[in-house]
Amino acid sequence: MPIYHNLGKFPQKRHTQFRKPDGNLYYEQLFGTIGFDGMSSLLYHVHRPTQVKEIGKAMDMTPKIAVAKNIASRKLVGFDVAPKDDFLDSREPMMVNSDVLIGLAAPRKSMTEYFYKNSDADEMLFIHKGTGTLKTFLGNIPFEYGDYLIIPRGMIYQMEFDTEDNRILYAESAHPIYTPKRYRNWFGQLLEHSPFCERDYKLPQDLQTHDEKGDFVMKIKKQGMLHHLVYATHPFDVVGWDGYNYPYGFSIHNFEPITGRVHQPPPVHQTFETSAFVICSFCPRLYDYHPKSIPAPYNHSNIDSDEMLYYVDGDFMSRTGIGPGYISLHPAGIPHGPHPGTYEASIGKTKTEELAVMIDTFKPLQLTENAMKIDDGKYFKSWLDKE
Ligand SMILES: [Fe+2]
Repeated sequence: MPIYHNLGKFPQKRHTQFRKPDGNLYYEQLFGTIGFDGMSSLLYHVHRPTQVKEIGKAMDMTPKIAVAKNIASRKLVGFDVAPKDDFLDSREPMMVNSDVLIGLAAPRKSMTEYFYKNSDADEMLFIHKGTGTLKTFLGNIPFEYGDYLIIPRGMIYQMEFDTEDNRILYAESAHPIYTPKRYRNWFGQLLEHSPFCERDYKLPQDLQTHDEKGDFVMKIKKQGMLHHLVYATHPFDVVGWDGYNYPYGFSIHNFEPITGRVHQPPPVHQTFETSAFVICSFCPRLYDYHPKSIPAPYNHSNIDSDEMLYYVDGDFMSRTGIGPGYISLHPAGIPHGPHPGTYEASIGKTKTEELAVMIDTFKPLQLTENAMKIDDGKYFKSWLDKE
């Protein structure tokens, strides 16, 4: 996160004595990434953050692969994923490769009995339905419909939901998730041609410090296992921190679309990047304004990337038979394009209300058993002319 932020209290000089009202020291922690070369923050704890009491049984979270080598275009009915009470139980991996795991979740209950961190991956949670608060040891971020929550690896968090009606698209990335480099200057500031700016970020706020001892369960995802650790002190015991490494939110509704006289390619929709995949936001916008423009996209061959599109809201201009919560997967190696009739029907249209999230991966995606349960099985034939 290339913007400096701080909350709470910390010493004016780093790595120096910082004392509690009773004269004892607070405990400093450097929370960094990519060795000592990436984003980092300096945290100050009431207690040493190292007090592991017990290590319980670990659970294997490895996704069960149904189709390892896929050539078929797919359509998944995402809202058919059954809601479950627990946030982690509710997460169903759909598509995976060695860089990213993409899944759907419909959690009903807030996380109150344990804390969670993913030490394998940066997490992106896209909130399709529901409101609540992402509670972290670096502060809280209220969330609502349309929010991306970016949670760098290792962040300790809990999800608090206001109701039981929640739908989330999530991605676990083996590589750090950043905003696109081409929209930042050499200091990291977002440039004028960026479709969003620093004011749009939802930064952590309302840092709550819990000075408590006891038994605190932390579930830690590492090497595909979910480990169960019991800590002797409350994980949210930070009195202050500053730096660049922290979770943040960004609303898809604050993405300002880039439009043109003729059809603009997918990179104009790019919102986040990694070294292995991109995340794009397709938002309501005016269509192309060349007098002879065709607003629907041309057929295209993404010969070296799989395209996963998650439909959020509105009519999707180039598709038929698609509704909110649906996922389409257009695999690398074969061209895809608008459905029969939609290419012609788009001519003369002036705007679209479509809202969708796209994840394009450079390595092919494997489909899980969960995905096959909600796969319609015939989408790959949907471009045939009607007899
Ligand atoms: Fe495409």
